[in-house]
Amino acid sequence: MRYAVLSDIHSNLEALTAVLEALASERIDRTLCLGDVVGYGADPRACLERLQACDALVVGGNHDAVCVGKLDLGWFNETAQASLVWTRDQLSVTDLDWLRRLLLVETVEPFTPYHEEAPPAPNDQGRTGPVKAGPVGRPSNGAGRAQRSTPFQQVGTGSSRGAGFTLVHGSLSRPERFEYLVDLAQIVDTLTTCRTLMCLAGHTHQPCFVEYDRTQRTVLRVLTRAEELATVAFRDDAATVRYLVNPGSVGQPRDGDPRASVAVIDTDEKRLSIHRVRYDLETAARKIRQAGLPGFFADRLAVGR
Ligand SMILES: [Fe+2]
Repeated sequence: MRYAVLSDIHSNLEALTAVLEALASERIDRTLCLGDVVGYGADPRACLERLQACDALVVGGNHDAVCVGKLDLGWFNETAQASLVWTRDQLSVTDLDWLRRLLLVETVEPFTPYHEEAPPAPNDQGRTGPVKAGPVGRPSNGAGRAQRSTPFQQVGTGSSRGAGFTLVHGSLSRPERFEYLVDLAQIVDTLTTCRTLMCLAGHTHQPCFVEYDRTQRTVLRVLTRAEELATVAFRDDAATVRYLVNPGSVGQPRDGDPRASVAVIDTDEKRLSIHRVRYDLETAARKIRQAGLPGFFADRLAVGR
């Protein structure tokens, strides 16, 4: 099976269209999306429709959640709030229902299950049952004041241990808080929580691959450069290793490369690659300005920051 992994599309239709065109020659069996379909960009409805046409499996991001009232607008700074209020006004009742139904965590199972005599103590209350309300984690890049509680009731599905991908927008330890995985300690925390071979997470808008040996409790690889991420081999050995894969952002890259970013994972070849795709960012930026959205979100497209 070949999976396309998209994240943080952020209403950028030009970027999403270019990515889907690039994927057309990649023999993709299934498309996965790690949230933040909307926000910042000028085409929220069209991006929803394109994703729905792919029959993508999608988890909710913080921008998606705020549009349907699951997350308080006060979580974001004023510039992001202006974008999200505009976005919400563009969406139909049907669009909002679709966003509302997105879970925080999903799993798919293309890998080999495994068994162990003494499984690690579960730390996944966010994945198997109702989430306890709690404070939102450290905000960044558009996030502002903290929020007291979140109303997420359903946050995921079960999985055979080790057998696949876990999809989440931010940290898996506390998915309802949308914490950014920006340092290794946070990534290891998520990977020790993860029951499947791979955790697919977005939110930072920066692509990366991390390999963690769960028996030795050691990080084996951290790959962030485009040359390193162009082709990466992995093992189907969930008893020993865990992987974090962040595909980067389709519509708002923030790693200094303005091209759209997308991951392709081949579970038969046991290889993944993160592709960068050029798109018509001038048109995307012009549409943001014409819509009256904050120009900051248009300006940053050209620099990928
Ligand atoms: Fe995002």
